[in-house]
Amino acid sequence: MDHFEYRDGVLFGEDVPLESIAERYGTPCYVYSKATLERHFRAYTEALGSHPHLICYAVKANSNLAVLNLLARLGAGFDIVSQGELERVLAAGGDPAKVVFSGVAKQAGEMARALDVGIKCFNVESLPELERLDRVAGERGKIAPVSLRVNPDVDARTHPYISTGLKANKFGIPVDEALNVYEIAAGMANVRVVGIDCHIGSQLTELSPFLDALDRLLVLLDKLAERGIEIEHLDLGGGLGVPYQGERPPAPFDYAASLLERLSQREGKRQLPLLFEPGRSIAANAGVMLTRVEFLKPGETKNFAIVDAAMNDLIRPALYQAWQAILPVDTRAPREPGIYDVVGPVCETGDFLGKDRELAIAAGDLLAVRSAGAYGFVMASNYNSRSRPAEVMVDGDRSHLIRQRERLEDLWAGESLLPSDGPEVD
Ligand code: LLP
Repeated sequence: MDHFEYRDGVLFGEDVPLESIAERYGTPCYVYSKATLERHFRAYTEALGSHPHLICYAVKANSNLAVLNLLARLGAGFDIVSQGELERVLAAGGDPAKVVFSGVAKQAGEMARALDVGIKCFNVESLPELERLDRVAGERGKIAPVSLRVNPDVDARTHPYISTGLKANKFGIPVDEALNVYEIAAGMANVRVVGIDCHIGSQLTELSPFLDALDRLLVLLDKLAERGIEIEHLDLGGGLGVPYQGERPPAPFDYAASLLERLSQREGKRQLPLLFEPGRSIAANAGVMLTRVEFLKPGETKNFAIVDAAMNDLIRPALYQAWQAILPVDTRAPREPGIYDVVGPVCETGDFLGKDRELAIAAGDLLAVRSAGAYGFVMASNYNSRSRPAEVMVDGDRSHLIRQRERLEDLWAGESLLPSDGPEVD
C-alpha cells in the first residue's frame, strides 16, 4: 500500500496535490512519500518481530540523503556497493556499524575507508577479493569482518538482467566452492568470518526461490559448523518484488514467516540473526515521476504523447522493457481517450516511458509515472545534455525539495578546453 491516490479526480501524494508540486518545482520531477517509505520499512521490522535482525536498505535503489536519513532514523542499516554509497550513508547520519558492503570488485581504497569507519561486514564475492581484503586490513592493522556471498545456483525467475543467483551470473562464490574459500578465510590473519550471504535477483514474485536459496545456505552452514567455523548471521539479500502491473509478490510478512518457519525446522531454538537488503520493496512504490505532455502527435500507425521526461530521467522502460503505470494527475477535465506511446525528447527510438497506453489527455496535462521511487533517479543520466530532475519528498500536507534540479552549468562543470599552446589560427 502507498500514499498516492485520487481524491475527487485529482492525484495526491499524501495530502499534497501533485499538480501543486509540478507548479512549484517544475517537471520532470520525482516525488517520494515519507509515510510510504516508513510503512514499507516497518513492514520488514514488524514481520521479523523479536527474531534478531537488521534491515540493510539497499542504497542503490534510491540514495537521496533525505531517504537515507529517514531510514537511518527508523533504525535501518545499509547495503552499499561503492565508497560513494558509503559516504552518502555517513553524510545522511547512518551508522557505519550497520553497513554491509556488497559488490564484485571493491577497490583497495574503498576497503580501507570502510575498515576505517568500522562497517559491520564485507560481503566478499571471490577468493581474489578476499585476498585483497586480507592484505588491506593487514596494512591498516585491522581485522575485516567477512561474509562470503554464495551463489546458490537457483533460478529467481525474473528478468535476466536482474537475475543474479545462477551459475551463469558473475556474482558470488559457487556454493560448491564456498566451503573451501571459507576454510581459506578462517586461516587468514586479518579477516574474521562472521556471516553467509546471498542475493539471487531482484523483482522476485514467488517465495520458492528464496526458500531454495536458504536451504542451500543452511546445508553449508552445517558443514562449516562441523569444521569449527561459526557463522554469526545469515544475510538473504534483497529481491522481494513489487506490484508494477498487477503482480502479487509476497508481502514481507509472508516472506519472513516462511523463512522463520524453515529456519526453526533446521535450527531448533537457535536464533540465528537475519539480515536483509531490500531496496525496491521499500522505495519503488513510494515514488512517482511527474512529467508534462508537450505535444500530442497523431500518426497513421501510432499516436505519440511527447512528454518532457525521457529515458535519461527514467531508464527502466527502455532498458528492461519495464512496465510502469502512467496516470493523468487531474482527471476532471473532459478529454478524448486515445492509445498513445508515451515518449520523451531524446533522439532515440528506444526513448519511451510506456507503449500503447490508453490515456485521456491533452497537451499541457501532467502525468505521473508510478513505481518510480526505486531505480529511478539513481539511474538517471545527462544524455542529450539534459539536466537531471528535481526530487521532492511529501510529508503530510507539506512538500520539501530534497534535491534541486541540476543546473545547466553543472553539466560541464569539471570539463576544460585544451590548452592554447600554439599560435591562434583565425
Ligand atoms: N543486495 C544486492 C547485493 C543487490 O545486488 C541488490 C540489487 C539488492 C540487494 C537490492 O535488491 P532489491 O531489493 O531492490 O530487489 N536496476 C534494476 C534492479 C537492479 C538490482 C540490482 N541489485 C531495475 O531497475 O529493475
